[in-house]
Amino acid sequence: MKTVIVTGGLGYIGSHTVVELLNEGYEVVVLDNLSNSSEKVIDGIRAITKKSVHFFDVDLRDYDKLESAIGYYQQSIVGVIHFAACKSVGESMKYPSKYYDNNVAGTNNLLMAMKRYNVGNLIFSSSCTVYGEADDLPVTEQTPQKPAESVYGRTKQINEQMIKDMHREHDFNSVLLRYFNPIGAHETALIGELPNGTPDNLLPYVAETAIGKRDLFTVFGDDYDTKDGTCVRDYIHVVDLAKAHVVALEVSVKKNLKGEPVNLGTGKGYSVKEVLDAFEKENDIKVNTHYGNRRKGDVEAIYADPSYAYKLLGWKAQLGLKEMVTSVWKWQKAISSKCCGGGCCGHKNKKA
Ligand code: NAD
Ligand code: WQD
Repeated sequence: MKTVIVTGGLGYIGSHTVVELLNEGYEVVVLDNLSNSSEKVIDGIRAITKKSVHFFDVDLRDYDKLESAIGYYQQSIVGVIHFAACKSVGESMKYPSKYYDNNVAGTNNLLMAMKRYNVGNLIFSSSCTVYGEADDLPVTEQTPQKPAESVYGRTKQINEQMIKDMHREHDFNSVLLRYFNPIGAHETALIGELPNGTPDNLLPYVAETAIGKRDLFTVFGDDYDTKDGTCVRDYIHVVDLAKAHVVALEVSVKKNLKGEPVNLGTGKGYSVKEVLDAFEKENDIKVNTHYGNRRKGDVEAIYADPSYAYKLLGWKAQLGLKEMVTSVWKWQKAISSKCCGGGCCGHKNKKA
C-alpha cells in the first residue's frame, strides 16, 4: 500500500490532484478543515475515479490531531502533498495574522509531525507570487526573488525557506512547485473551483458574469505596456497541474531532491483580453464587460520558463486555452444548475 497524505485535498487544486493520485493507484488520505471546501467534493472524486478516499476533518494548527492522523498511516506513507493554506491576496492584506497563523504556523506543525514520524517526502504548493515583479521574462527558477507584494506572497516565501531549513534537522526529500495561474476544471464537471463569495480571480469572475450571477465583468486596466494593453499571465489547466504533483512525488525521492523549486506553467503568456475573447468564442456566449482602472498590486506581465519542469520531471502541460475556458464554463453551468436558490452556487460547508 502506497499512501499519500494530501493536506487541503478537498480544495480546488487538491481535489484534482486526489483524482490523479487515485487513478495512479495510490491510497489517499485527505486532511482538510473544510474552511474553503465541502465534504461533498468527495462525492465528485468518487464518481470520477470509482475509488474511495480517507478523509479527516483536521486543522493543521491542531498539532495533536495532525500528529495522530499522520502517525496512524506512518508505515505506508510515501509522501505528503501540502495544499492547505489561505490564498486570497486581498484578504491577506487586511488580516495578516490569519495568514501567518494558517500558512506559516500550519506548515510548521506539518513539518514537525513529518519529522516525528520520519515521513521522507514533501511536495509543496508554492506560487509564482514568490518572484514579485520580475525584471526579465520568462521567469526561471533562478530569477531573483523580490519581496512579495502581499502578505499571502510573503507566507509562500517564508514557507519555502522553512522547508529548506528543515532539511538541517530532518532527512527528507522536498519539491517546491511554483504554480502560475491555475484555471479550468475536470472534464466531467464533477469537481472544479468553488470561489468563496465574490471571486478575486479572472476566470471565476468571467464565468459568474456569463451565467448571470454577476452583472458586469471589469477588466482591470487596458493601458499596460503589453500586446493589447491588458495584463499578461501564464494560465495553466488545473488537470495538467494535478498531474505534475504525481510525477513530482516519485521524482523527488528518485533524484533525492531537497527544497527544489520548479515552475509549473505553460510558458505562454495570454492577456486578459485574449482569455476573455477565447471564453466568449469557444463557449459561444457574450460576457458583459467593462474596461476599468488598474487593480492595485497587479504585475503587468508574468509567464514561466517551464523547461526545468520538463528536464527534471519529464512533465509538460498538455492542455490549451480552449480546454481551460470550455471546462470552466461546463463547471459553472453544472454548479449553477444545482444551486439551492440562495445564491450559494458553491454548496460550501464554510466554517471560518
Ligand atoms: P483552496 O482554498 O481551494 O484549497 C485549500 C484547501 O485547504 C481548502 O479545502 C481548505 O479548506 C483547506 N485548508 C485551509 N487551511 C487549512 C488548515 N489550516 N488545515 C486544514 N485544511 C486547511 O485553494 P487552491 O486554489 O486549491 O490552492 C491550493 C494551494 O495552492 C494553496 O496553498 C495555494 O496557496 C496554492 N496556490 C494556489 C493558486 C491558485 O491560483 N489557486 C496559485 C498558486 C498557489
Ligand atoms: C489575472 C488577471 C487581473 C479579475 C493571483 C495571485 C497569485 C496566484 C494566482 C496564488 C490579472 C485580471 C482579474 C477581474 C481582471 N495565486 N482580472 N478582472 O492576480 O495573476 O494572481 O492568483 O498563489 O499569487 O496574486 O490572478 O486571476 O486575480 O488575475 O481584469 O475581475 O486578470 O488584473 O491581470 P493574479 P487573477
